Amino acid sequence: MFRVALFGCGRIGQVHARSIAGHDDAELAWVCDPVLPAAQSLAARHGGRATDSVTRVLSDPGLDAVVIASPTPTHIDLLTQATLAGKPVLCEKPIDLDLARIDACWAEIAGLRPFVMMGFNRRFDPTFTNIHRRVADGEIGTLRALRLTSRDPEPPPRAYVAASGGLFRDMTIHDFDVARYFLGEIAEVQAFTSGDGHEMLTAEGDAHQAMVLLRARSGALCTITNSRSCAFGHDQRLEAFGDNGMLEAGNQTSSSVRAYGPGGTETADPYLKFFVERYRDAYRAEFDEFVRAVREQRPPSPGFADGRAALALADAAAESAATGRAVAVSPALTDGVLT
Ligand SMILES: NC(=O)c1ccc[n+]([C@@H]2O[C@H](COP(=O)([O-])OP(=O)(O)OC[C@H]3O[C@@H](n4cnc5c(N)ncnc54)[C@H](O)[C@@H]3O)[C@@H](O)[C@H]2O)c1
Repeated sequence: MFRVALFGCGRIGQVHARSIAGHDDAELAWVCDPVLPAAQSLAARHGGRATDSVTRVLSDPGLDAVVIASPTPTHIDLLTQATLAGKPVLCEKPIDLDLARIDACWAEIAGLRPFVMMGFNRRFDPTFTNIHRRVADGEIGTLRALRLTSRDPEPPPRAYVAASGGLFRDMTIHDFDVARYFLGEIAEVQAFTSGDGHEMLTAEGDAHQAMVLLRARSGALCTITNSRSCAFGHDQRLEAFGDNGMLEAGNQTSSSVRAYGPGGTETADPYLKFFVERYRDAYRAEFDEFVRAVREQRPPSPGFADGRAALALADAAAESAATGRAVAVSPALTDGVLT
């Protein structure tokens, strides 16, 4: 069995614990969180030994890999320690909020030829991968435009927002990665935000909505629409438009049953509520790819360089929103030179 340690037992840590415990070839060996009762509770549900000691976990000679699901400011330190201990890592996004720190981290670990896979789970969503494959197979001809809609049902807790780096670096970063996954490198970014009078987000200096326009180096265009809240659930849609047609992935409901009555026709169940429900299969497929890539000694994808590139696009969007100008993206900032 592939023995995995999980750092962080919060919202996404619980999702990863389920994927690890439910995997045929993996088991949860350690659950580590400075809040020990949180680690103990998760270990009781999904297995493994609970601890608050990183050193204890990383000194386990039988440990095969590490999943980092702790808050963003802790990623670099845990990633560096795990890599120096020789453990392959699946790290949640973003790697960090500061490109200089990311580069310093890479400079420290690069010589070890580390295995660092990024938790960009949307690359593993069955509907998005289906569209990606069909675009690659030429079904809609040359891809000209991508339209991404990502609205969360509600903002995260205030403490999370305060450490998140803002909407572009925390939330849109998934869309920047999907844009790169479909369109390759991005040449230019234009972004707008609005606070919409949201008290907590405004107090934290964050935005409630964002709209971003990307121009890829290929000439293809991409629009991203984000909101931190959405009355009808987790609004996650993707549209790929090409010379010969279009492929579209819509929102998902818990069943395909439609109701017909005096109050409405073709009434469907509500959309899946949030990332835990909407991307359940994607998180499982992401973890499965992590195990297989480590076992088969393949390079991780998405890797460290993809994490860095997505943050560079988030920085460009923040600059554009602040200045009101389009921001050109230097190839040196986003090309996959690191892995
Ligand atoms: N891929 C996704 O869909 C997705 C979704 C949500 C969050 N995230 C990312 O996952 C990370 C965690 O987000 P969350 O919403 O689960 O946060 P959270 O606040 O719900 O949980 C974080 C947990 O980590 C623990 N922790 C704090 N410091 C730690 C350390 N040094 N070592 C181990 N554990 C530590 C906390 O006690 C807490 O239990 C963030 O980087 C976030 O951007 C990704």
